[in-house]
Amino acid sequence: MTQEAHVTQGPLTTEAGAPVADNQNSETAGVGGPVLVQDQLLLEKLAHFNRERIPERVVHARGAGAYGTFTVTADVTRYTRAAFLSEVGKQTETFLRFSTVAGNLGAADAVRDPRGFALKFYTEEGNYDLVGNNTPVFFIRDAIKFPDFIHTQKRDPYTGSQEADNVFDFWGLSPESTHQVTWLFGDRGIPASYRHMDGFGSHTYQWNNEAGEAFWVKYHFKTDQGIKNLTAEEAEILAGKDPDSHQRDLREAIERGDFPSWTVSVQVMPAAEAATYRFNPFDLTKVWPHADYPLIEFGKLELNRNPENIFAEVEQSVFSPAHFVPGIGPSPDKMLQGRLFAYGDAHRYRVGINADHLPVNRPHATEARTHSRDGFLYDGRHKGAKNYEPNSFGGPFQTDRALWQPVAVTGVTGETVTPVHAEDNDFVQAGNLYRLMSEDEKERLVKNLANAISGVTRDDIADRAINNFRQADEDFGKRLEAAVQALRG
Ligand code: HEM
Repeated sequence: MTQEAHVTQGPLTTEAGAPVADNQNSETAGVGGPVLVQDQLLLEKLAHFNRERIPERVVHARGAGAYGTFTVTADVTRYTRAAFLSEVGKQTETFLRFSTVAGNLGAADAVRDPRGFALKFYTEEGNYDLVGNNTPVFFIRDAIKFPDFIHTQKRDPYTGSQEADNVFDFWGLSPESTHQVTWLFGDRGIPASYRHMDGFGSHTYQWNNEAGEAFWVKYHFKTDQGIKNLTAEEAEILAGKDPDSHQRDLREAIERGDFPSWTVSVQVMPAAEAATYRFNPFDLTKVWPHADYPLIEFGKLELNRNPENIFAEVEQSVFSPAHFVPGIGPSPDKMLQGRLFAYGDAHRYRVGINADHLPVNRPHATEARTHSRDGFLYDGRHKGAKNYEPNSFGGPFQTDRALWQPVAVTGVTGETVTPVHAEDNDFVQAGNLYRLMSEDEKERLVKNLANAISGVTRDDIADRAINNFRQADEDFGKRLEAAVQALRG
């Protein structure tokens, strides 16, 4: 649909619908005199304008979204009873919001940063949100570190800028970040567009089938457009020339009917294998090598419709890792557990208690039936229905069937570290990733990291950061140290 199709006809009105006589001149006491309070149009316009912004997302503020269709291409009913995955050929409407992480709302798109890949499936059993990134892993493995981590990515309280000191100080002191940082400073760290990158659920999630069997799964979305990245130099130029490059690319592709798509797969681990797997399967800093758990392809995601109003549909869209449907549930991943709280809380603050009622956020293939009521901007959707349960009036009722299977736990409560499995340490997979790279890729990785680390002002911070990469791979560390020394003189 073109933008022109949305132009409305008829006289301009006030918010209350009364016709406006003059939208160019405010009302004054005499010609050239002071403005009158009775000019309600002027007051209404100024007051509304002052309230146009809502708080931007504390992370992932900058983004772009599009609607699409998810189609099941292979039978996965032996793993999950989710109704939207129940038969080959079945289609579900989706909304996907891509984003960068650290930049504010007006930041440039072409930067070195993970990309958000937040996908809402409007299923007949309610909305299922998969709030992932374009990276299979993350910097930390416990939600309690997330606010500290993000503070180092955002503006320093004194300088007002992002500071290499803070970034590498935190990473150096958090060796579990070495894998993700190696990924981020490699070729895939700056995708050419949102269309030319993969998506990942990143966390391990639970699928469970009709028989009540549980599986641990990881989602992969492989771009059908092919991976395309920008070099650091290309990105620097593009970010300055066209700060909206990713957003424009996505909108224009969909406008010309060149619908981007992704091939969707899962890795599936039978629940009983988790305890003895060589890596802790609930540690977000680790992947499951495909040799251990191969990709099982089961779907196609296509984006085919642009939002009509970016504020209403993208800025006010909300995604929560806690939005599950029957047959899908959380894992004990400590990061995921923290996220189950964080998003709903962010939505209540940022968009309001009725955020889930907005057109982009509400279920499209079923309706939400709750006894929650009222609050700011409640639209009266429940009319006169009873607002409590149990009741004797035939209102909505509980199903007595949990969405996911229970997980066995042992021990006593405590501030525990994530258990370490046979081959786990903070560096093993970062080293494997480095050794997988071609010589050219290694060179670019070392150069990108050295450029960033050379901005650090304290030697101890730079040394500690470099040491993590040395522990991942001796050659990696040696080359990085030499490159940083050359830059710092
Ligand atoms: C414990 C760790 C984390 C916490 C506490 C956290 C918290 C948040 C919060 C508060 C928002 C803003 C939500 C809003 O205002 O609507 C957000 C956005 C987002 N986060 Fe996280 N996050 C965490 C880790 C992650 C991880 C590991 C991923 C990916 C695997 C991720 C992906 C995203 C995405 C894609 C968005 C943007 C969603 C959108 O487009 O609206 N986050 N996060």
